[in-house]
Amino acid sequence: MTGQGKQQEVQTGFDDQQVFNELMVALSMALDMDARGKLFHAWRVALVAGRTAAEILPDKVSDVFYAGLLHDIGAMGLDDHIVHQMISGAPATDPVILQHSEKGAAIVRELPALHEASRYILEHHEHWDGTGTPSHKRHHQLTVGGQIVAVADQLDILLRLHARDEGKKALEIIKSRAGTVFMPEVVEAFLAAVAETPYYQVIQDYDNLPFLMEETLAALPAVDCRHPQPLRATVRIFAKIIDAKHRYTMGHSQRVASYALKLAQAVGYGEPELADLEIAGLLHDFGKISVPNRILDKNGPLDKHEWTIVRKHPARTAELLTIIKGLKHLAWVAAGHHERYDGKGYP
Ligand SMILES: [Fe+2]
Ligand SMILES: [Fe+2]
Ligand SMILES: [Fe+2]
Repeated sequence: MTGQGKQQEVQTGFDDQQVFNELMVALSMALDMDARGKLFHAWRVALVAGRTAAEILPDKVSDVFYAGLLHDIGAMGLDDHIVHQMISGAPATDPVILQHSEKGAAIVRELPALHEASRYILEHHEHWDGTGTPSHKRHHQLTVGGQIVAVADQLDILLRLHARDEGKKALEIIKSRAGTVFMPEVVEAFLAAVAETPYYQVIQDYDNLPFLMEETLAALPAVDCRHPQPLRATVRIFAKIIDAKHRYTMGHSQRVASYALKLAQAVGYGEPELADLEIAGLLHDFGKISVPNRILDKNGPLDKHEWTIVRKHPARTAELLTIIKGLKHLAWVAAGHHERYDGKGYP
């Protein structure tokens, strides 16, 4: 980063760690939006995984938590949410689904602060006995963090499948899988982590989840940044993640940001507006993550229903940026990118 860039970072005046946390939370929220609404799968997995890590892997709580938040990011853009696929019970044979752990790990590895988390994401469908995917690793070839995310993921799927008995059946099933699907010590730590309150019931109260998330984030230790990155560098990588959803949008957000920056310079904007505009440009299509690739890839004109979904993406961008306190003021700057001077734009 140039000296000028550094100065711009300072002038934004936000706590980068907090913005980073909230960016991740917003990203996981975007991944969990589909036609059926908000699933909160990623949040629930992260909350349980972080709590389990506090029992057995206390110095990696943040890495495990982020791995939980982003574990299914490799499934971004799939027609149906990965959760529904898992709940259907049919063995996953679709190669795109089978690749989601590897794809997700590769995406998250782009963020230097999340290298450790990416290792856990890679392993979240591996089994203790070697019957999992993608590498059939077994026993101590597996990381404890990866096994924690696997258990937390399984809990959320089972809670959906067995919703009627407040989660007791889900816990029994996980217990019975110690030593086959899961590392026994991880199951033990997980049971201790969810026993109090009991936590597996607390996470089923969707109205309470945003508060629980806020409270957990506030207590989360900072990630071990071996290569600490300023906010704008993180947001640039983030834009790459948004663009990676769809093959036609490669580099789109980065280009929009640099055009916006040049135009703003030309009309005489100074800092911190320039920094703000670059970030708004980088994140303008954030809400597009929730539009299925089936629609974005469609060969031919979109029908009315498909258009309705596409036209929602700027409002979703605003909704997601509102979660990030340090970027909240940019929500409607970013979300206004399909508005028109004559009022015929959207949203
Ligand atoms: Fe998964
Ligand atoms: Fe999952
Ligand atoms: Fe857009």
